[in-house]
Amino acid sequence: MKNKIIISAPATVSNVGPGFDIMGFPLDVISDIIELSRSKKKSSGIVIKKITGDGGKLPYDPMLNIASVAIQSILDKYKINVGLELKIHKKIGIGSGLGSSGASAVAAVFAANKLLDLWLSKKELLLHALAGEILSSGSFHADNVAPCLYGGFVIARGSSPIEVLQIEYPKKMYCSLVYPDIEIKTSEARKILPKKIPLGKGVEQAANASFLIAGLITKNYKIISNSIKDVFAEPKRAKLIPCYDLVREAAFKNGALNCNISGSGPTMFAFSDSPQKAEVITQAMSLAVFDFGIKNKSYTSKINDKGPEEIEDIKNYRKVSR
Ligand code: HSE
Repeated sequence: MKNKIIISAPATVSNVGPGFDIMGFPLDVISDIIELSRSKKKSSGIVIKKITGDGGKLPYDPMLNIASVAIQSILDKYKINVGLELKIHKKIGIGSGLGSSGASAVAAVFAANKLLDLWLSKKELLLHALAGEILSSGSFHADNVAPCLYGGFVIARGSSPIEVLQIEYPKKMYCSLVYPDIEIKTSEARKILPKKIPLGKGVEQAANASFLIAGLITKNYKIISNSIKDVFAEPKRAKLIPCYDLVREAAFKNGALNCNISGSGPTMFAFSDSPQKAEVITQAMSLAVFDFGIKNKSYTSKINDKGPEEIEDIKNYRKVSR
């Protein structure tokens, strides 16, 4: 029986253009880390012992913290009476559009499953992680949590019935990302979305989403590039990112296949067909944001096929970032 486990869970790009609330993929360059231990005292319930990297933003109250709420959802369902201690190390920016809350929720349920030897399926873990995620965004969507948990390029239906599918994609496809130093709360970025979509826009989005999936599976970069466009959320949310147009211009000028908002932003991402091109695009996107006068972080990443991982030691765990 283990007394302690350390789990990392990756940042994710969600929506991916036309896949609003249904598509996403994890990155292999940034992850949140959770340390979960059995309490030494004879107590029950979850105690949050430490949170790092959050700038003091996250609550220590286990009823309000996404990670502990997700674990509690498992404990409640299986009537498990155990004392647990949780340490949360945030590496993914809060309000970055990179699935920060989803990654903490996934790392937490993955850790609880392993530490307590529960052998729950990914489908079941997904539901408990969503119980945490819903606390942060105020809505039920699985496009961060599902790709974070399953790995690979994922389509996820969040309800009736919940379904997750990993689809093929070109393995040489790289992702460039820039994270401007602006915080956007998903709950706020959802409030500005239209409540109704005109039929024509619905058809356009459905066509784009269908072609994007077909383009990924058939590894056809032209189809991917032509269809990775969101007509639901991105036109509204672009206004929340003052450097939006300049980042897109920089990406396209350097050969990107697309340039879209990641999740609810402000991070923007662009695909390309080689690591060299991706590096150039990353630098150009970052420079565009600096030139606009906004500090930023930038990353070049492949799609992460693994999802959460058990790690030995936090100190030796290094991920790339500029
Ligand atoms: N699909 C979600 C949204 C992702 O765009 O609001 C953010 O968590």
